[in-house]
Amino acid sequence: MAAMDAITSREELDAWRIKYLGKKSAILAILKGLGSLPVEERKVAGAGANSLKNELEALLKEKEASLAGGQAGQDKAPGAVDITLPGKPVDLGHIHPITQVLYELGEIFTSMGFEVVEGPEVEWDYYNFEALNIPKEHPARDSMQTFWVDAPPAEDGREMLLRTHTSPMQIRVMEKQKPPLRIVVPGRVFRYEATDATHLHMFHQIEGLAIDKGITMADLKGSLYEFSRRFFGPDRRVRFRCDFFPFVEPGVEMAVECAVCHGSGCRLCSQSGWIEILGAGMVHPRVLEAGGIDPEEYSGFAFGMGIERIPLLRYGIDDIRLFYSNDLRFLRQF
Ligand code: DAH
Repeated sequence: MAAMDAITSREELDAWRIKYLGKKSAILAILKGLGSLPVEERKVAGAGANSLKNELEALLKEKEASLAGGQAGQDKAPGAVDITLPGKPVDLGHIHPITQVLYELGEIFTSMGFEVVEGPEVEWDYYNFEALNIPKEHPARDSMQTFWVDAPPAEDGREMLLRTHTSPMQIRVMEKQKPPLRIVVPGRVFRYEATDATHLHMFHQIEGLAIDKGITMADLKGSLYEFSRRFFGPDRRVRFRCDFFPFVEPGVEMAVECAVCHGSGCRLCSQSGWIEILGAGMVHPRVLEAGGIDPEEYSGFAFGMGIERIPLLRYGIDDIRLFYSNDLRFLRQF
């Protein structure tokens, strides 16, 4: 019915109703006049008029419904999608807590002039050990249980492994870039260890390296103090103690005051009041040489920090495995 199709508003529909179904409409006139017809004709005319009336009423109802449903978009074709209805919620994910920490550390160090670089997770033993002053028979190799890759050694005898720390990138960067250089290397590392509440066979580290003329231990301490101030806040005390790593001389470990007991001793810090967070030191001359840098001309500092411990300490999480068990009830809290 063309007149009905053209209707787009309630007012027009009212006018239509009065014209075709109102008291003065043709259909009502017919119905009213039925009584004056002979019985046979009355039956036929009555049935026809009534069915027409029903049809018109059905059309009216349909139009009323479609106008009510599409009030926001008045000239919407019947059956079209109503874009004003609320959408289906999209299940958005968020960044994993470990990645969040890595991003945060990246921002802190880039703002201090370091560049973020990444390196291979499958590495040569040359970069992972040899060039870092850990020769084949050195006992330090035993402190890093290694996943060796089951591939024939390269022509020069190099063997493949999954890197046990991010330190190999020190050498790779020195080979390519001349000082001054300041880099941080976030990434995955692997150790052949049984998994428990405090150990994983795969975890993350961030390595730092700064090389220039005249870099001293004061630069190392200043940079790491500043990092601690920005990351843990200005009130957290920081402690340096001597430590040994084959690739630095002298070597240190840095600890921050325990967040739970503020130094008085608790279970989290094994009653010591301190929590060790990284190893560091002045880059060993042999390591500089392995990277093609003259130790008489340049010096530098390096540090390496485990990532998983940081949110562990920050949020008081008691099982490191939770980060990788993909339990959304855990992950959604960060
Ligand atoms: N690579 C060491 C480890 O995984 C950490 C480390 C210690 C890195 C001292 C350094 C450093 O750069 O100077 O245990």
